[in-house]
Amino acid sequence: MGNQKKIIMAKNNKFYPASGGVNLSRPPMSIGERGLSSPFSLKGRGWSRKHLLGLAELSAEEINTILDTAGSFKEVSTRNIKKVPALRGKVVVNMFVEPSTRTRTSFSLAAKRLSADVVDFSSSGSSLVKGESLKDTARNIEAMGVDIIVIRHSSPGAPHLLSKILKASVVNAGDGPHEHPTQGLLDIFTIREKKKKIKGLKIAVVGDILHSRVARSNIWGLTKLGAQVIAVGPATLVPDEFKQLGVTISYNIDEIIPEVDVINILRIQLERQNTNLFPSIREYARLFGINSERLKKAKPDVLIMHPGPINRGVEITPEVADGKHSVILEQVTNGLAVRMAVLYLVSEIK
Ligand code: MLT
Repeated sequence: MGNQKKIIMAKNNKFYPASGGVNLSRPPMSIGERGLSSPFSLKGRGWSRKHLLGLAELSAEEINTILDTAGSFKEVSTRNIKKVPALRGKVVVNMFVEPSTRTRTSFSLAAKRLSADVVDFSSSGSSLVKGESLKDTARNIEAMGVDIIVIRHSSPGAPHLLSKILKASVVNAGDGPHEHPTQGLLDIFTIREKKKKIKGLKIAVVGDILHSRVARSNIWGLTKLGAQVIAVGPATLVPDEFKQLGVTISYNIDEIIPEVDVINILRIQLERQNTNLFPSIREYARLFGINSERLKKAKPDVLIMHPGPINRGVEITPEVADGKHSVILEQVTNGLAVRMAVLYLVSEIK
């Protein structure tokens, strides 16, 4: 049974806690109550990574393993008792050295649903503001017996650095403009769930591609799974170098809208721009903002996506954000299942 044995032992359709076999003080947990609906093992699934640092280094098979595992975990969140014992006895630290609402809450809840002990750490109020280096802070946190560190940092490569010096698993929750692998995965999961495939789809990623880690992770993941990605935006935000990642570039959203299956809209990242890359927000909204008028030319089943936070009235109008094509809140729901899958998978590799 290998890895599966560590989590749950399935016998006669019942799940038993792994530690020491049957717990006599409690009745065995039934599949419907506490276990996973289909007992799954990592054996033969081709997963061997202790860290999740980005989608650039993952194979299509590894991406599919995460998506399939997330599918099993999604069902857990629909139950009365939304918890499985997969990470019981493990400690997860959320180390967010850059602001976040969605991602931090999602990782925290994901770890709790897997029964881990969770510690939320932010840079304000920590020794980082007293000048301690990231390495020292992380080493000190790890010395308390941490199994997984989820890190968000404004510097590209911060999670990679920690993965080299720590024994714990490291999960990248966004490193500057570089990668945001779990956002890329939850976007792909949502598209696959709605369209039943990825291969052959045409997907527009619109907006501030230059500063977007979400764009990079989407591009890596989607192209590996056989989608055609079109990066759309003003030339100043969509540099030609992106062609090297296998995407097509367009500077005209109206030309692209009729032919795409998905429009993934990015936030204008004013906090990462240090020069004026377009004349004004109003001008950007007029030329690239997704509004109802523009959407009239889209396919009837086009999906509208946005990683959040949304600048309503800039890159997307409220009618579109809340309209019938929008799957923005489903992305958030799916993010939980994807993060449960990632935490579970990395925790299985020593
Ligand atoms: C991110 O952390 O990159 C967000 O999910 C997207 C954004 O900030 O625009």
